[in-house]
Amino acid sequence: MKSAPKSRPSKFSPPPGAAQPAAAGAADALRENAEPVAGTAWYTPIWFVAIFGVALYWATMYLDRNGGGFQPLVFNQGESLADVEARVPHSEADALVAKGRKVYNTYCAACHQPNARGLTGQFPPLAGSDWVNTEGPNRMIRIVLNGLQSPITVNGTEFNNVMLPWRDQLSDEDIAAVITFVRGNKEWGNTAGPATLAHVKAIRAATEARGTYWTAPELLAVPLKD
Ligand code: HEC
Repeated sequence: MKSAPKSRPSKFSPPPGAAQPAAAGAADALRENAEPVAGTAWYTPIWFVAIFGVALYWATMYLDRNGGGFQPLVFNQGESLADVEARVPHSEADALVAKGRKVYNTYCAACHQPNARGLTGQFPPLAGSDWVNTEGPNRMIRIVLNGLQSPITVNGTEFNNVMLPWRDQLSDEDIAAVITFVRGNKEWGNTAGPATLAHVKAIRAATEARGTYWTAPELLAVPLKD
């Protein structure tokens, strides 16, 4: 550091002619401070950095766990209380339909589509289907258990593809639930009655030895209601 030119009076020495400090205490008050230096000083205390770090970590974890990935489905699933109530099952039948919706979306929607309209030329519709809206669910239970492979006419349109069996993947309850959900789905224009657990159980036992797909003509020979 450059020292001040000799001619310049020190800031702290009294100007010439001024009264000299009388006591030793006053002289102390006039003692020079440390020279100011240019540069960057790090004034953030280490404890603050540590606490800030912990808080940031906690906040990130909190957001990660409770943020729902910022998906609108997590936060806006109900537009109104009535909307939310409508989705909560209030009876056993409601619970079966709710379960059926899950089974449908997991095991059937890939082919028959989430809106159940199927895919032209590949997968027949379940919405409004004349195979679904039958008096009893006995043919549909058989289709889900053992699959289907043959030309089949659905609502006047012919399909000829393969549906795999679900006997080993789905429980009796899963099958009763999904069939009840599909047959009673008014949004899809379906108005048929439910399938019971006992009915699925009985047909599973009766067709245990079958071990192959159904064909449409064979199914048509099964009475509409048994
Ligand atoms: C791999 C695709 C695929 C999946 C998954 C599938 N299906 Fe099918 N399904 C088909 C095909 C293809 C046909 C027509 C078969 C044929 O042409 O012989 C069919 C026919 C049907 C039929 C009779 C025809 C109609 O449209 O009404 C019903 C009922 C049915 N499926 C219900 C279901 C249910 C319930 C599930 C879920 C448990 C399901 N399917 C899963 C492909 C699939």
